[in-house]
Amino acid sequence: MIFELVLLAATALLILKLLMTKPYKFPPGPTRWPIIGNMLQLKRWGSLPHFSLGEAARQYGDVVGLYSGRVPVILISSLDGIKEASSRDDLAGRPTSIVQTKIDKGDYGVILSSGERWKEQRRFTLRHLRDLGFGKRSLEGIAHEELEAVFDEVDKLSGDGKTGSKNPVCVHDILGTAGINVLWHIISGERYSHSDPHLNKLIDNVKKLITISDPSGGVSVVFPIFTSLFPFWTQLPTFLELRNSLHQFIKEEITGHKKTMDSENLRDFLDIYISEIEKQRSNSTTYFSEKQLVQTCVDLFMAGSDTTFNSLTFSVLYMILYPEVQCKVQKELDIVVGRDRLPSLEDRPNLPYVEATLHEVLRLSSVAPLAVPHSPLYAEKDVEFRGYIIPKKSRVILNLYAVHHDPKIWGDPHNFRPERFLDDNGRVTKHEALIPFGAGKRACLGEALARNNLFLFFTGLVQRYSMTIPNGLPVPSEDPEGGLTLVPKSFKALFEVRTER
Ligand code: HEM
Repeated sequence: MIFELVLLAATALLILKLLMTKPYKFPPGPTRWPIIGNMLQLKRWGSLPHFSLGEAARQYGDVVGLYSGRVPVILISSLDGIKEASSRDDLAGRPTSIVQTKIDKGDYGVILSSGERWKEQRRFTLRHLRDLGFGKRSLEGIAHEELEAVFDEVDKLSGDGKTGSKNPVCVHDILGTAGINVLWHIISGERYSHSDPHLNKLIDNVKKLITISDPSGGVSVVFPIFTSLFPFWTQLPTFLELRNSLHQFIKEEITGHKKTMDSENLRDFLDIYISEIEKQRSNSTTYFSEKQLVQTCVDLFMAGSDTTFNSLTFSVLYMILYPEVQCKVQKELDIVVGRDRLPSLEDRPNLPYVEATLHEVLRLSSVAPLAVPHSPLYAEKDVEFRGYIIPKKSRVILNLYAVHHDPKIWGDPHNFRPERFLDDNGRVTKHEALIPFGAGKRACLGEALARNNLFLFFTGLVQRYSMTIPNGLPVPSEDPEGGLTLVPKSFKALFEVRTER
């Protein structure tokens, strides 16, 4: 009996040891606990993932090895580490999700695809979105129309308060559709009015989908068996319902396009893609399909709407918290653009202080703090990185937030100081550590569009309004909320149309 007990205990200890053992040359990190990995330590270190992962880097260094359940997670937090990892082909994959393996039976779209599919689809999407005017001046008119609609909304909500002064306006309520119409126009050739219920439902669904997406991969990564056995106790059904509604919306557009399409005169991204499906129909080595197109469109919405909205909301927050910067931006706009027309993309090179301010907004806010997880490109191979081994199917997290807030790089990273991006002659300088859109092979596909939208909306608002903290309301917090993307906590600002010259 004693022998059996000893054997049982020894077996239990052996299993425990095996479950806690890390692979050969795994980067340094905290003790790996069976089943949960490092979930508890991370929760203890901070409520938002970029904070807890920042603490992991402080304790273990620039390359840390962690576990999310049974999945290895490699955290890279230094500028040179992130640049090196981002430039390497063998680390340009994405981790596979339970939705891809169990439901979609494939990694469709651009954001979460890997291998040859990703290479082909990213190249095609980027090329055609550029040709269609992504980030070009030709689309400025649509952004300006949207901006005018934002002005109408602000003026309506501001009204005249009881004492003749303006009412404070909740900033999150006015910037909802910023930039989406431009994107949707490139994809489908259509434009929606600011208040169109169709458009607002689309944006609402995208927001909800992003809210329930967890950068750590959530329960489905930590406990995949739990998700398979008890899907209704997880976020999976809600995720699928929201995603289906987006898929439906895009499928209807595709059906409409097929009916009216003229192959001699392709109007937009949907036309171009549908025609490519036809061309490649007999080529079994390519990945063009309607399912792929639908997911690519969803990806563009997911990646483009929240990030642009969040950055703009931060830009207004910083303007009311740092009125001296707002004044300098207004002064430069008054001199270069005046007040009789909206700022145009052509003005951009002549507005260095504005440009430096937008750089600083992107740095300090870091709206995509942990980028999108990378993984070895081909899921069957381990990868060597800086003397460590990154096991196949690891999640590789690039902590952009840590780089943007590193005192060794910026000196005073927590201050909002656009001057750090200007040289002695007042010209904008490129800073190699400013990487809000990531870097290398998987860098943001929408950077040009995002930068242009941000410029047009920000300058339009600051040119027209003086924005301040409303009397009697608390000073809004700079601390963000969110997870996958960061956004300021809800706050109000006073928008007064500028009359002084
Ligand atoms: C301020 C706005 C934006 C920020 C800060 C931002 C940031 C990022 C970051 C950090 C990544 C991940 C890079 C990596 O994995 O290493 C990314 C990927 C991506 N972004 Fe953006 N983004 C913005 C706007 C947009 C817009 C407007 C679009 C498109 C309409 C877009 C489309 C994409 C796509 C498709 C990817 C995935 C690329 C790939 O996996 O190959 N983004 N973005």
